[in-house]
Amino acid sequence: MTVQQSLPRPKSRTHTIAQALKEAPGASVTIMGWVATKSSIGGIKFATIRDGSGYIQVACKRDRVPSQAFADFEAATKESAVAVEGVIREDKRAPGGKEISVAGFWIISLAEDWPITRSAVKSRSSFLYDKRHLAIRGRKASAIIRIRAEIVYATFDHFVKNGFTLISAPSIVQNAVEGGSTLFEINYFDKKAYLSQSAQLYEEAALAALGKVFIFQPAFRAEKSKTSKHLTEFWMIEAEQAFADQNDNMRLQENLVNAMAERVLTNRSEDLKTLGRSFKFPEVPFPRISYDEAREISIKKGVSFEWGEDLPTDGERLVSKEFDVPFFITGYPLSARSFYHMTEETNDKVTKSADLIAPEGYGEIATGGQRIHDYKELMGRIQKQELPTESFEWYLELRKFGMPEHSGFGIGAERTTRWMCGLKHIRATSLFPRTISRVSP
Ligand code: 4AD
Ligand code: MG
Repeated sequence: MTVQQSLPRPKSRTHTIAQALKEAPGASVTIMGWVATKSSIGGIKFATIRDGSGYIQVACKRDRVPSQAFADFEAATKESAVAVEGVIREDKRAPGGKEISVAGFWIISLAEDWPITRSAVKSRSSFLYDKRHLAIRGRKASAIIRIRAEIVYATFDHFVKNGFTLISAPSIVQNAVEGGSTLFEINYFDKKAYLSQSAQLYEEAALAALGKVFIFQPAFRAEKSKTSKHLTEFWMIEAEQAFADQNDNMRLQENLVNAMAERVLTNRSEDLKTLGRSFKFPEVPFPRISYDEAREISIKKGVSFEWGEDLPTDGERLVSKEFDVPFFITGYPLSARSFYHMTEETNDKVTKSADLIAPEGYGEIATGGQRIHDYKELMGRIQKQELPTESFEWYLELRKFGMPEHSGFGIGAERTTRWMCGLKHIRATSLFPRTISRVSP
């Protein structure tokens, strides 16, 4: 082979790495990406290049490339952006079974010494999240991001297929949906306002216009507790349907989670492998246990609490460990629920609501229930709980103009991702997590 003179850098790529890996041996390709690893064996220099679509090994021999290309190859540091021209070759030892035999190589943007080293990571526990803007380039981090995206794609598909309309709702609001203790207060032109905890109340207004609605947007919680399942800003998928009771609501949730799981297991199996994760496919219907049964299990396992209290985090984890697929805990006491929940006709201490619990200890991923649709009953509830009637005026007024029985739920995108990915902490599911102790990067 004749060694060419230095060539001008190609302006664009002909292939993504995923496309290049599908090419037959002998095909010419130009890819662009970042240097993930470098090594050399004998006289041959190797690098692994990634571009978000995949990873490919490239091999460079001094006597086969222009001297500029070989110099650039040697100088390219980890995470430098580079362009590679070459020919696809079969190589059993290469990841993916193919490599690019380099004919041209250019540094597009040279990277400084990569700061994420083993010793730096060990030096302080927050290091990886302080450097999150760089750390997200890792194999595992990007696998998690893709799995979260797949869960969201599945959600949109499922709702659209089932006749739901996507809506939006304000993030700046005047009323608490889920109780005052987790509200972020903001100064809104010298008036008090809050960051929205949930779009539910707006969905209830929208359902009288659209019948079945869903939404996907950020929710904010000023959670004071440092746990492995709380973010202060997260994305919630919520749905609400008219003429639907709590049984319809649970069916909608299990069908949705079933569709999410199917999409993730089908389309993201490589990413799950990268994470060393597998989970059991959740067939519908999901198991259902009552709050009383969950409480019994929790007490038996050593976490006691009074009837009427919310399941403590530890209790929830222990109950969740008893299952290998998601399940519902039904019939929560009103005392552990928000004001809008409808109660059983036969027992006004128990709500028509359920939590959807992910198995293996991951815990709650969704809460849903049937809402009070009667004006007087809702007004009575708001007064009894001493909530500011003024800020619920519009929500109450919905009940004066044809409000049928209706139900809905909210499922956390990050909680669901955490379970499917099998992650210790929820922060790993967020590109730039917000927690009690982190508002940057
Ligand atoms: O259980 P929550 O508080 O229920 C509601 O907000 C209802 N208004 C939803 C509705 O019926 N439309 O929140 C719903 C879900 C939780 O089950 C959980 O998955 C997620 O939102 N979530 C959180 N995720 C991460 N960090 C937090 N601090 C979360 N709080 C709730
Ligand atoms: Mg809940």
